[in-house]
Amino acid sequence: MAAPHVNTAVADQDPAILTAMAQLLGPDGRSDPYTPARVLREAGPIHLTPIGHHLLTRYEDCAAVLSTTAWSHAEEAGMMHPTVSPENAAEELPTSFLWMEPPDHTRLRNLVTKGFTPRMVTRLRPRIEELTEQLVDTALAAGEFDLVELIAYPLPLIIACELIGVPKEAYGQVHQWSQDLARGFDHDYTLPEESLKARSAASRGFMGYFRELLNERRADPTDDLLSVLSLVEDRGDVLTEQELLATCITTFVAGHETTANLIGTGMLRLLRNPEQLDLMRARPELIAAAPDELLRLEPSVQITTRAATRPITVAGHDFEPGEGVVVLINSANHDPAAFPDPDRTDVTRYSDPMNPAKKHLGFSLGIHYCLGAPLALLEMEILIEVLLRKVGAMELLSENPPFKPNVVIRGLESLRVGFKPA
Ligand code: HEM
Repeated sequence: MAAPHVNTAVADQDPAILTAMAQLLGPDGRSDPYTPARVLREAGPIHLTPIGHHLLTRYEDCAAVLSTTAWSHAEEAGMMHPTVSPENAAEELPTSFLWMEPPDHTRLRNLVTKGFTPRMVTRLRPRIEELTEQLVDTALAAGEFDLVELIAYPLPLIIACELIGVPKEAYGQVHQWSQDLARGFDHDYTLPEESLKARSAASRGFMGYFRELLNERRADPTDDLLSVLSLVEDRGDVLTEQELLATCITTFVAGHETTANLIGTGMLRLLRNPEQLDLMRARPELIAAAPDELLRLEPSVQITTRAATRPITVAGHDFEPGEGVVVLINSANHDPAAFPDPDRTDVTRYSDPMNPAKKHLGFSLGIHYCLGAPLALLEMEILIEVLLRKVGAMELLSENPPFKPNVVIRGLESLRVGFKPA
């Protein structure tokens, strides 16, 4: 059925809608973006913000935009980051293939894909298990602790560093840069001056550091991703140094922050729904499918943007070429038209391969579909498995744990929990 035509010539004026937009797109109210998303979704499939962005609320429209080439990820960077001028763009936001379209996107993505084959991810399992056990043992020894600090950040950080080839002594530095870049994904107008400065500094820091590492690898290659890519770069027709640096940084930041946030918010969901933990304890075969349900409910990447490449109508609005749109992943993933009882945490939702639930948008769709999805899901699966095996009782020590102010890449600041050995 065609979506009803809505008048999008002027921004929505309804105070309830304006409040919901402010809650959803501003740094406050991060603990619950789903209530304002529901208000917007129930009010209509498309809304125009006071600063002129169209927001899509429904699964069907969001999925359609992400999965067709009528929409590009390359042209809408200025929509989120208007303060980045063409002159300083290379320094501010290195253009990785995340913001490219074919043929450049295909050329670069294919290179990195070689480092993320299913075989390669399966080979990582024993190392992820070993590290997860160590982290959980340390946490158990502490009794009460911050799960974000002791597990959610170190697990994906160490795995990403080992995979890419970042040495131990740099873990603290790359973690800080990564956090500053993740915050910088938010729309510039929501960011304080110090966050914009921190983003630029992180970008420059990362590029200088990876340039140094690549020089070392060229002279003395190992089996990490940096070595593989540095050898490709030597054939200048395939990969320039700028593209190579951008690829390394994106793969690192995209993989580290997002997975840490899934672990934090996913565990919060489970601790608030302990019957789901009991169910997985009784039926361990459900554990493998649980991370998908947790990411559906708590997508680490809450929103993304695209620009039309040709005239196209979505949700009743006629988009002109170059016109941008905001895809509300957080709203689409909670749309009752796509997911029955959408706010319920149900670890069985993705467990039946014969009757799978609809694909959620937490890893996007189409040509930019997340390259690291199998790795992120595996890390979360192994963590649940280790916790259920080693931990008897788990308790939430703060009913309302604090969230970071990040809008696009959303996650917890801390999660105080108490664990007792099994
Ligand atoms: C829970 C964890 C993760 C989430 C929620 C996530 C989410 C996403 C999303 C939504 C996109 C597409 C953005 C868009 O279409 O606008 C994406 C792309 C990407 N992700 Fe992930 N990601 C996660 C983990 C990882 C990991 C572990 C890696 C690698 C180590 C990774 C590497 C990438 C790369 C390289 C892209 C760009 C793909 C392209 O443009 O073709 N991600 N991710």
